[in-house]
Amino acid sequence: MSDTPRLPVLVTGGAGYIGSHTAVALYEAGFLPVLLDNLHNSSLQAVEGVKTLCEADVPFAQVDVCDREALSSVFEQHSSEDAPFAGILHFAAHKAVGESVAHPAMYASNNVGGLGTLLEVAESHGVRNVVFSSSCTVYGEPETVPVNEDAPFQHAESPYGWTKQASERVLADHAATHPAHRVALLRYFNPVGAHPSAAIGELPLGVPNNLVPFLTQAAAGIRGALTVFGGDYPTADGTCIRDYLHVMDLAEAHVSALQWCLAQDSEAHVVRAFNLGTGQGASVLEVIEAFERATGETVPHTMGDRRAGDVMAIWADPSRAEKELGWSAKRSLETSMADAWRWQQALKTR
Ligand code: NAD
Ligand code: WQD
Repeated sequence: MSDTPRLPVLVTGGAGYIGSHTAVALYEAGFLPVLLDNLHNSSLQAVEGVKTLCEADVPFAQVDVCDREALSSVFEQHSSEDAPFAGILHFAAHKAVGESVAHPAMYASNNVGGLGTLLEVAESHGVRNVVFSSSCTVYGEPETVPVNEDAPFQHAESPYGWTKQASERVLADHAATHPAHRVALLRYFNPVGAHPSAAIGELPLGVPNNLVPFLTQAAAGIRGALTVFGGDYPTADGTCIRDYLHVMDLAEAHVSALQWCLAQDSEAHVVRAFNLGTGQGASVLEVIEAFERATGETVPHTMGDRRAGDVMAIWADPSRAEKELGWSAKRSLETSMADAWRWQQALKTR
């Protein structure tokens, strides 16, 4: 390793699932991730995991992005006029679709309000590069698949989806009023898996809503059988199709997006959306089969009714990210499943 000082990068939501994996990828790429999280949906265990994997005392601040004063003090402590944060990777948000339907105002204030506060504080500290966690949910049920970044937004199915659409708009409008601001809007498809070391992974609280954490818990005997939500869709095997990408591929995409921000030499502002997916759709039954192939375990499952609000089939056209960020997903669905299972087994021993 050279003696060049590491550029500090603020990682909000850095104790969360995707933020923690990205922190490791940032460190590996030579940056210094500064983790910020209010631990609403995460724990210090993830921060410890990041430190272990980086073999470094990665800074962590337990701060809420809506708390302007506390947020400002993180900027003051970890960045300066001479060495401002090279960028902000903004993961901090609530993310449960069902909860957002029950508590729309909480989602608006945390996800959109938090972003507004963050941008104001960043502005007063001269930080211009933002990489934002958006979602394929902005597309709703797409007219054609694979979906590319020019597809129109559909009416948001949930308050959560609306917060992603609104946040993209806030970021674009903010950048448009400031020269040399660079914003990468990263529209994730379905992140799955864990770091191969099993030192960090996803920590869903309570009964998981998402497919892969439920599947691994069902295989581990922690839950009953997995219910496949709908077997009567007009797809090849009757089940829904998604684009599942390994969380470490996603983490590496953030490093590429930050480097893309840093490489822009224009004094004009630049705002660009990127789909992050594999470009391959997999049905629910194909995910179960990939898991069973990769692990030799059996997933107890039954066919159930469709889940309200589910899109039938969506997968990414990730060609823009490949062309402009030089990024593409490398890991297979089997690798994702093997890593998710290793993490599930590690959780049992903690
Ligand atoms: P996560 O819940 O594991 O991580 C989010 C982190 O943000 C948590 O640690 C939480 O404690 C923290 N947080 C929430 N509000 C905060 C606040 N006001 N101040 C400080 N910290 C706060 O979720 P994740 O899966 O890692 O998702 C990260 C981002 O990616 C979110 O913005 C989410 O909406 C987005 N996203 C996730 C998925 C997915 O399937 N996991 C898909 C698309 C987009
Ligand atoms: C995947 C597939 C289910 C659970 C959600 C959010 C989206 C984004 C990613 C943040 C679907 C099926 C699931 C189960 C099942 N998050 N399924 N049995 O719905 O694609 O997207 O997470 O932005 O906004 O909506 O992901 O993992 O919930 O479901 O059959 O017990 O698995 O029907 O086809 P989804 P998911």
